[in-house]
Amino acid sequence: MPDEQVYFKKIQKSVESITHYYDFKRIDTPILEDAEVFSKGTGITTDIVQKEMYTFRTKGGDLVALRPEFTPGIARSYIENGMYNLPQPVKVWTMGPLFRHERPQAGRYRQFFQFDIEALGDKSASIDGQIIQMSYDILKDLGFKNISIEVNSIGDSECKPYFKKILTTYFRSRKSTLCSDCQRRLKENPLRILDCKEEKCQRVKAGAPQIIDHLCENCHAHFKQVLEFLDELELPYTLNPYLVRGLDYYTKTVFEIVEKTENGTTQGSLVGGGRYDNLVKILGGRDVPACGAAGGVDRIVNLMKTREMKPDKKEVKTEIFLAQLGQLAKRKSLKLFEEFRAAKIPVAESFSKDSLRTQLNTANKMGIKWVLIFGQKEALEDFITLRDMDTGVQKEIKLNKVVEEMEQKINKK
Ligand code: HAM
Repeated sequence: MPDEQVYFKKIQKSVESITHYYDFKRIDTPILEDAEVFSKGTGITTDIVQKEMYTFRTKGGDLVALRPEFTPGIARSYIENGMYNLPQPVKVWTMGPLFRHERPQAGRYRQFFQFDIEALGDKSASIDGQIIQMSYDILKDLGFKNISIEVNSIGDSECKPYFKKILTTYFRSRKSTLCSDCQRRLKENPLRILDCKEEKCQRVKAGAPQIIDHLCENCHAHFKQVLEFLDELELPYTLNPYLVRGLDYYTKTVFEIVEKTENGTTQGSLVGGGRYDNLVKILGGRDVPACGAAGGVDRIVNLMKTREMKPDKKEVKTEIFLAQLGQLAKRKSLKLFEEFRAAKIPVAESFSKDSLRTQLNTANKMGIKWVLIFGQKEALEDFITLRDMDTGVQKEIKLNKVVEEMEQKINKK
């Protein structure tokens, strides 16, 4: 909506300035991709692919999908454009609309916006740290105060399968107490039971084994380094052993950033991300470790509005109104507008209203001090009448001096 645009703009500006600082380059991937990019990439067992993806067959018979997230499209682009040959890591960011057929509710939409940052081609823990820090910085820059980072490690292809087995054994003996979704997850991806929000599953999972106790040496060392990095940066994080994230490609570090209130957290995560060392390979590329994160722009906007966090309106206040009367004046004022625009001076007008009184009323309602009256006589003789709305005093200015004089009047204040 028009009044929300300033928030979107503000978020984009924060993302742009932080990504620019850390040398992330903008990338834009197609909104419509081969469905396989996501069914393989996001993962066949995920809710996104199983229930939420908008997939359809084109007249030519291709199976395509509206992108439900950015990460697989970016990994696909990395492979297709041979980005292995660039200096690594390849650091990119993007922002745009995504589509998931979810049950609409506060902060959950079927078309929503994300900003997304990805670093491909580096396995070091400092990259995880940097991605977390940048995500946190963006929210801080927007004015969020009570935000917290939840972090966990879910292991890699060496320790994750082993932990899945332990977890399956634990949950299988308690299968009847799980919700129907989790009974299905038990077969497909038992890790997902850990982040189920259903009341009955919460109780069962409280006694479940924790992955942190079952990480292989490599994952353990990596996670330790990530936490040391966060300590060094003095970022407020908590270890959440139940955080597994709902996408199949994650390995090692996963994290989410949430807003904390007295009653716990609000409306789900603002940012979510993690490491995905196998995704590029899964999509047919080489072995390219990577890490990234995405923030829910609509959710952030909602929260900024609820918390009355005003996006700073650096836009210049409009102080001039141009009232036009008659065809000739309207035609000539087009050029005048262009001159004001070039001088970066905002000028309001009401093209559709013809009577001078209506136009002056409009200017009054907008709290405007200076009205430029451009009528039939003025247009013929190339001058303009300036009216001070506070005093009612009027004077004439030559048309070719109007911009210059108004510039002085505005700057004088
Ligand atoms: P995700 O957790 O699915 O991760 O989404 C990231 C963020 O997008 C969420 O934290 C939330 O703020 C927002 N979001 C998700 N679904 C909706 C929705 N239906 N309506 C409004 N906001 C929503 C990803 O998408 C991964 N690609 C993140 C990532 C990047 N991991 C590595 N790199």
